[in-house]
Amino acid sequence: MTKTVVVTGAGGLIGRPLIWALADRGFKVIALDRDVVEFSHRNVQSYAAELTDIPRAHAILKSSNADALVHCGAISGPMVSNDNPFWICETNIRGTANLLEAARIHEVQRFIYCSSIAAYGPTAEGPIPEEYPLFPTNVYGASKAASEHLLAGYRYQHGLEGLALRIGWSMALDDGLHARFVKASRVD
Ligand SMILES: NC(=O)c1ccc[n+]([C@@H]2O[C@H](COP(=O)([O-])OP(=O)(O)OC[C@H]3O[C@@H](n4cnc5c(N)ncnc54)[C@H](O)[C@@H]3O)[C@@H](O)[C@H]2O)c1
Repeated sequence: MTKTVVVTGAGGLIGRPLIWALADRGFKVIALDRDVVEFSHRNVQSYAAELTDIPRAHAILKSSNADALVHCGAISGPMVSNDNPFWICETNIRGTANLLEAARIHEVQRFIYCSSIAAYGPTAEGPIPEEYPLFPTNVYGASKAASEHLLAGYRYQHGLEGLALRIGWSMALDDGLHARFVKASRVD
């Protein structure tokens, strides 16, 4: 059966190519961003939705019967909204909380969160193990760590299958990251 995946941040660096990759692999994709992002692909339906708009999130998840949600929408990067840290919290933390709650209520099975290595804070050089403690040193990184903790709460308390990918700095969706997202979205 065709799986339906909701992707936020549809117009972004990561969301846009991911939507193409999922649609090309036969997923039905519901693409969300602030404004409608056009995808000329028969497997993609695009809608405008503010991340913090609670009724909108519920309406879309209720009608879509989605199997998975990939949350790419965010204020992305520690350098963005430097002068408005509250806006980072509002968008990244409250936006994630809104989608987690809508996913719980409308029984979306899996929630894939785009976290960041900024959630770690400063680290030693070389590969970073997953167990490395999160000690962010900017508001953006803190918003990513906070969202990961929310995801863990929904996972353990409410049974939502959640996973967070701590993405390094990327100007494009490379093949490795691509494959991980596609694999993570496959709800069998
Ligand atoms: N690109 C990277 O280097 C990188 C690294 C680590 C983590 N990440 C994370 O990956 C995710 C995607 O990053 P990206 O590079 O594609 O970012 P991006 O800035 O290119 O895209 C983010 C998208 O989110 C949308 N958005 C922002 N605020 C919104 C709101 N209030 N309502 C609805 N939509 C909103 C934007 O319109 C945009 O299309 C983010 O969570 C980011 O923190 C990215």
